[in-house]
Amino acid sequence: MKLIFERSKPGRRAAAIPKPGLPIPEVPEDLRRRKPPRLPELAEPEIVRHFTALADRTFGVDTGFYPLGSCTMKHNPRVNERVVSLPGFRDLHPLQEEEGSQGALELMWRLQEILAEVCGLDAVSLQPAAGSQGELTGLMLMRAYFADRGEADRRRTVITADTAHGTNPASVTMAGFDLQKVGTDARGNLDLDDLRAKVNEETAGLMLTNPSTLGLFDEHIEEVAAIFHDAGALLYYDGANLNAVCGISRPGDMGFDIVHINLHKTFSQPHGGGGPGGGPIAVRDILEPFLPVPAAVRADERFRLDYDRPKSIGKVRGFCGPFGVFVRSYAFIRAYGPALREMSEVAVLNANYMLARLRDAYELPFDRHCMHEFVLSARALKREHGITALDVAKRLMDYRFHPPTIYFPLIVPEALMIEPTETEPKETLDAFCAAMLEIARDAAENPKLLKDAPHHRPVRRLDEVKAAKRAIVRYQFDEHPDLGGDASEGEAVEAQKGA
Ligand SMILES: Cc1ncc(COP(=O)(O)O)c(C=O)c1O
Repeated sequence: MKLIFERSKPGRRAAAIPKPGLPIPEVPEDLRRRKPPRLPELAEPEIVRHFTALADRTFGVDTGFYPLGSCTMKHNPRVNERVVSLPGFRDLHPLQEEEGSQGALELMWRLQEILAEVCGLDAVSLQPAAGSQGELTGLMLMRAYFADRGEADRRRTVITADTAHGTNPASVTMAGFDLQKVGTDARGNLDLDDLRAKVNEETAGLMLTNPSTLGLFDEHIEEVAAIFHDAGALLYYDGANLNAVCGISRPGDMGFDIVHINLHKTFSQPHGGGGPGGGPIAVRDILEPFLPVPAAVRADERFRLDYDRPKSIGKVRGFCGPFGVFVRSYAFIRAYGPALREMSEVAVLNANYMLARLRDAYELPFDRHCMHEFVLSARALKREHGITALDVAKRLMDYRFHPPTIYFPLIVPEALMIEPTETEPKETLDAFCAAMLEIARDAAENPKLLKDAPHHRPVRRLDEVKAAKRAIVRYQFDEHPDLGGDASEGEAVEAQKGA
């Protein structure tokens, strides 16, 4: 496909901008440009066709099934966009005085209350802008809590599972704790013997997602909580997988003290491409004094922002947090009402349906019912036919499906991590399973077909690391100063982008 600069023809215009009839401001000589900017020159129909063609080449939840495990790529109801565009929300200034923003403050307060109830905990801060920022905030709370008790110097270690999402160990390190990993037993639970050997008076806490990234609910979660609480440590719940348990079980009841919630997953935000997101944290009452400021509070039927928290860790984000995200999530939750549990039940049902259909064609490393997602392994295909998880993923693209997450969690060789979500109909689940079964057959009968896949996408196999790390996102005019002597390598990367 041609780039927009390659379609450009001198003198072509989309529209003539009316002359404003205003005096032309004087620009100091040394600030004036020497040459006009090199913009592409095209007529409007060409521009429309160019961007429509680009849009046709992309893939998202609105174009097809996106079972990317651990990412909860569900449909985002359009009514949420309507609600967030209401002038009372859309036009608010972050520094609007409280009298003029009662509705917004009430929405924040109500969202805090709902999230506390969903988590089974006492207080919520809406500030963090993503799950990973929620993790860091939660760990900062842990530190503040132990500092307040005079134990900060001693409690240096945070334990994570060997199935943990990469952000968990990263957050532990960023928060200044020492990291310790604990193994997984044969049923996919935390290895209790390993855990008991590692928890002691130097442990600050555990960081765990339940269900885990294997899609399995830990069968000993109460015992795990007791091991940590008996040692005076805290439990942090990575709530990225909350879509599996809403209205069914609550992290607070399992024994967790701090939870982050990925609003952009469980409570529906368009989050492809990295944002916008929301990672509120919920905590037990002993940790409330340390929460970030401000909190939305209600007093005498009025709502205000409370900054009066002397022990607070301070702010972790500008103003009150990602407000547009709060509005969408609140609308989404209220649309379900008391039936929120159905969301999780259908997510779990869909995942188990697919697991049952696929388990004979792919290896199932932990043979149990799953929660909202499940992890298969392409290990047998690799051993017998040389077909890897990557080959399966690439071939799925030819069927117009987004591939599942692959090679994660790290403890499963050739992992394929599939999360259908609750918003997919049975026909889609069936079509995906049929494709996976056909791929397994082709692995034996026609492995070259898989090795060369994708065959029908705009680009074939890429050097993905190079394309990500050396992406050229700017048109390279011949005389571009950044090209330097490295032009041939630059061109090679551009070619890989299929341009
Ligand atoms: C299990 C788990 N924990 C944490 C995160 C981090 O969340 P975020 O992407 O919002 O930073 C993710 C993201 O996919 C996740 O799957």
